[in-house]
Amino acid sequence: MNAMAVVSWLHLIGITFWVGGIFVSTMVLMPSLKAISPAEGGKLMEAFSKRFGILTWLAVALVVITGIILTNDIIGFSLLVSSNTRYANLLLTKIILAIVMILNGTYMSFVLGRKMASFSSAPPASKPADSGGKSQPSGPPPELLRLQGRMAIIGWVQVVLALAILLVMGLI
Ligand code: HEM
Repeated sequence: MNAMAVVSWLHLIGITFWVGGIFVSTMVLMPSLKAISPAEGGKLMEAFSKRFGILTWLAVALVVITGIILTNDIIGFSLLVSSNTRYANLLLTKIILAIVMILNGTYMSFVLGRKMASFSSAPPASKPADSGGKSQPSGPPPELLRLQGRMAIIGWVQVVLALAILLVMGLI
């Protein structure tokens, strides 16, 4: 097995973790949260995000490093941007889509994820003074629901981008 076959293998392993994780969390985990209470869902998401975040960012690093090595070996970066061949254009399209996926992932992890985590550490909202002491079912804060909705939408954008990249790689 030559060195480039190993690099190609590592590229595919990274993609399996990264894209597989996106598919499972968007299509299976997030919709399944409806089956448990918002408080339990918050705890589960916090634990999941910690582990998922580390594994995903390691996988992204593996994909990018191996992708750069493969590009350099197969075509080289100057030909990639200057040759205007079908291969170069498809590879460039794929790299741009991958960069958009990384930017989306950064927003999900470091902006939305952090804001959502701040809800699980915040004390529960105090009941209004005029509630007369009656226990009212306190739902999740609307801001948290908005963040969860945005997370789900961007998750689906990631699914579509990954499918588009795989299509480009099928055409290349
Ligand atoms: C900066 C990011 C990336 C770079 C620079 C990159 C670059 C490359 C290169 C040069 C190849 C070899 C193409 C050939 O054999 O002609 C390749 C293969 C491939 N890439 Fe990527 N890639 C990146 C990210 C991704 C992502 C995010 C996905 C999937 C969502 C992906 C999926 C694939 C697949 C399925 C192959 C074909 C298997 C192989 O030959 O190893 N790549 N990539």
